Amino acid sequence: MNNFSFYNPTKIIFGKNRITEIGKEIRNNNHKRILLLAGQGSIKTNGVYDQITASLKENKIDFVEMWGVQANPTLEKVNETIEFARKHDVDSILAVGGGSVIDSAKAVAVGFYLDDLWLFMQRKVQAKEALPLYTVLTISATGSEMNSGFVITNSKTQQKWGGGSPLLFPRVSVIDPSIQFSLPWDQTVNGGLDAIAHILEYYFVDDKAITTREIDKALIRTIISMVDRLQENPQDYSARANLAWSATLALNGISGIGMNGGDWACHTIEHALSALHPKIAHGAGLGVIFPAWIEYMVFKYPEKFSDWFEIWGEDNSISALISMRNKLRDWGSPVALRDLCIRKDELDKIADKIMEFPVIGSFSKFTREDIESILILAY
Ligand code: NZQ
Ligand code: ZN
Repeated sequence: MNNFSFYNPTKIIFGKNRITEIGKEIRNNNHKRILLLAGQGSIKTNGVYDQITASLKENKIDFVEMWGVQANPTLEKVNETIEFARKHDVDSILAVGGGSVIDSAKAVAVGFYLDDLWLFMQRKVQAKEALPLYTVLTISATGSEMNSGFVITNSKTQQKWGGGSPLLFPRVSVIDPSIQFSLPWDQTVNGGLDAIAHILEYYFVDDKAITTREIDKALIRTIISMVDRLQENPQDYSARANLAWSATLALNGISGIGMNGGDWACHTIEHALSALHPKIAHGAGLGVIFPAWIEYMVFKYPEKFSDWFEIWGEDNSISALISMRNKLRDWGSPVALRDLCIRKDELDKIADKIMEFPVIGSFSKFTREDIESILILAY
């Protein structure tokens, strides 16, 4: 098993009716003027906004609001929010939403103290401080509520890049699974697929990290069966709760212990796809790319794929791939690039975009030829 360091300081407050505790948490940390950052408005219709503002008022926390973060969030909106946060002299940020809102809040938190956030994203400058961050999670998918990374799209250059810093672990994240009853079905599935993909990005790196791999198999099985249950009954609280916690564990460090940081080729490919097509949901893109990646890699590195098929109740990789794609179809999720409305004549441009990343993959560093092969398998 490889050496590893594990650090995760985020406090999780999990369960029904716990959103009302957020005001007290912020007050206990002595923050007095917070920026409430939100997306396109779902929190107004499902009652989350009312619970939060009541809790902030009760605890005498002043707040200003910024709305309109979109899925696959943009650098432009982040920069606008940084200006807003400076103008209102906030001392902390409360992100209320999914990965897009939380990631934007992280970008604002670090960008608040920088002249140019994109230079930080390009690893040309370092961050020395960041605004403290709180989150109320409304969709379980990215794990952003308990990790220190974020992903932002620069619309001008069509680059969707990740950034991160230990300064960006949220101080406190509230996860109330019952507020996810209002999710549309496709978003529930996208969340499950993203969480599965996070685990798989680590899984194949090292077969000697047995503890991690056994945890990972259990997490993936749980995610699959909870999404199945939610397809039957979207109001199944226990399924929402178990899916939510599995998705958090999928990218809070636990699922990747001893895995040398993971592979991340599929995420890099998906980020290029949704940079060019911001309407493509991250989880849906991964649902197309991951099976194609496995199909490609299983013949190059058969030793790495010696037991993953157990997750699918199969005894070989080909049957497992068929089961995986069948599961995606059962859930109504895209299984091919053409389902995502990508034209075949675009594949070259997509490959160019992917090749802009300095490194693609870890245990196998991809060349353009590898990328082209995977895109064809995904088509
Ligand atoms: O805009 P609102 O109104 O919030 O609506 C959202 C949005 O339309 C809606 N939604 C969220 N909670 C809801 C709800 N609708 C009804 N009821 C609720 N309870 O769902 C839609 C999708 O939300 P979004 O935040 O975009 O989803 P997700 O959490 O999947 O985030 C995706 C973003 O995170 C990045 C992705 O690339 C993508 O940009 N990622 C972040 C990571 C991280 N920070 O660790 C890692 C991931 O691999 C990923 O790259
Ligand atoms: Zn992801």
